Amino acid sequence: MKITTKHRFSLIALLPLILFAIPRSASAQSDGQKLYDNNCAKCHGSDGSGSTAIGKAVGAKDLRSDEAKKLTNAEITTQIDQGKGNMPPFGGTLDKAQINSLIPIIREFSKKAAAPSKKAGCCSRSDGK
Ligand code: HEC
Repeated sequence: MKITTKHRFSLIALLPLILFAIPRSASAQSDGQKLYDNNCAKCHGSDGSGSTAIGKAVGAKDLRSDEAKKLTNAEITTQIDQGKGNMPPFGGTLDKAQINSLIPIIREFSKKAAAPSKKAGCCSRSDGK
């Protein structure tokens, strides 16, 4: 009787630790995706194009553009932290690690856009014959 109670208590005490530990350690990448969906997609679109109703209204930039590709990590970080033009600053709501986790998401947009535009429909053969 005594043992059962004790065990039950320790399990309950550990449960929140277990629940917190798992998602925290396993999902740096998906954290960024989630943050993007919650904070950025309404203006920049889920594909980064900026073609949402709000995005068009405020002039959100296309995150897949050559211009966006040229931004350094530091420039992107500053832009998110402090905002620019019609983009609000996120420094008060997102911490540094969260802002950093958004950078790979932005890079992914420009990678996806680059792939299909590469000489689509051309006829080059790599065997040289
Ligand atoms: C209210 C709409 C809005 C939201 C929300 C928003 N942005 Fe922006 N974003 C803009 C606008 C407008 C610009 C263009 C600013 C300028 O240069 O005048 C911009 C520009 C940018 C740029 C620079 C692109 C370039 O080519 O110069 C990046 C990177 C960016 N946003 C990332 C983000 C990220 C990441 C988030 C989420 C944390 C976010 N934005 C949320 C409106 C928004």
